[in-house]
Amino acid sequence: MNEQSDAGSRHVPVLLQRCIDLLAPALDAPGAVLVDCTLGMGGHTEGVLRALEHVRVVGIDRDPQALALASARLAPFGDRFTGVHAVYDEIGDVLDGLGLPAVQGVLMDLGVSSLQLDEAERGFAYAHDAPLDMRMDPTTGPTAADVLNTYDERDLARVLRVYGEERFAPRIARLIVRRREHAPFTRTSELVDVVRAGVPAATRRTGGHPAKRTFQALRIEVNGELAALERALPAAIEALAVGGRIVVESYQSLEDRLVKRALAVGATSSAPPDLPVEPATHTPYLRLLTRGAEEADEAELARNPRSQSVRLRAAERLRPTPDHLRTPRRAA
Ligand SMILES: C[S@@+](CC[C@H](N)C(=O)[O-])C[C@H]1O[C@@H](n2cnc3c(N)ncnc32)[C@H](O)[C@@H]1O
Repeated sequence: MNEQSDAGSRHVPVLLQRCIDLLAPALDAPGAVLVDCTLGMGGHTEGVLRALEHVRVVGIDRDPQALALASARLAPFGDRFTGVHAVYDEIGDVLDGLGLPAVQGVLMDLGVSSLQLDEAERGFAYAHDAPLDMRMDPTTGPTAADVLNTYDERDLARVLRVYGEERFAPRIARLIVRRREHAPFTRTSELVDVVRAGVPAATRRTGGHPAKRTFQALRIEVNGELAALERALPAAIEALAVGGRIVVESYQSLEDRLVKRALAVGATSSAPPDLPVEPATHTPYLRLLTRGAEEADEAELARNPRSQSVRLRAAERLRPTPDHLRTPRRAA
């Protein structure tokens, strides 16, 4: 299999046609630019480049391997595609570097890609024994083993409870600390054994693999996923030209909550409720394009199991952000 078809077959883009339909009205002018903040295998980007012939895409990913595979896949589109290795909260700097003051579309398809889950050696999957890494960008930052071997018990319990919604977080955290007193964690199988011991047998029969929630929690912590998203959302909205559109696909309730809140800030009047007339400076600067969060329908679920937990939200920029609500365009 060559690299191009490899990238295409490894990850089926979630709600691709819906994303294209939502973005298309903003991308129909010549010279329109879409930023795909989570390029991954380039599935969404390829769909947009095929469907909308005049669009140029800037694709960001923090994972150098994903970027290389997607760039090979998208090479036939020539200069209509530009790949950038960055964390998506750097979107302002990325666009400054490319001389783009504003863009017409932003897409975010959050979380891990099938490539990352399938590459056993990267340590994202509880089903394969591998080094405890879990970094989306393996060139920088602490690994999952670092987190397990250095966080105190309370912090471990917090990570598992908040990011994994793990009922047995305190028990698992206690067992992690006890286990590492003998030898530091190095392999995913060691963590799976500890989680199995921490989850009561009666509950193990329901709710999927017992280590699923712990692995999700560690991945979110290792990659600082929620903090990056919280910074990225206002920066991405700030990057949009008037008439530009943002589409975000989340796979986890904490992510979706951040997206919902960031879009609601722009779609709600910022005038004090007791004012008789809403000042023009306080009218909404975003219009929501989705009612609540959209989910995958049966056809999508049959086509793509990853779509099971997707929550899609989208908005259109109505006007520049008023000064009193503006956040800096650059990442801190
Ligand atoms: C679900 S995949 C995207 C799949 C892509 N839409 C496709 O159809 O091929 C998410 C990608 O976003 C990347 N990613 C996650 N968080 C990121 C961040 N904060 N900055 C940049 N890239 C990120 C991951 O490395 C992964 O490759």
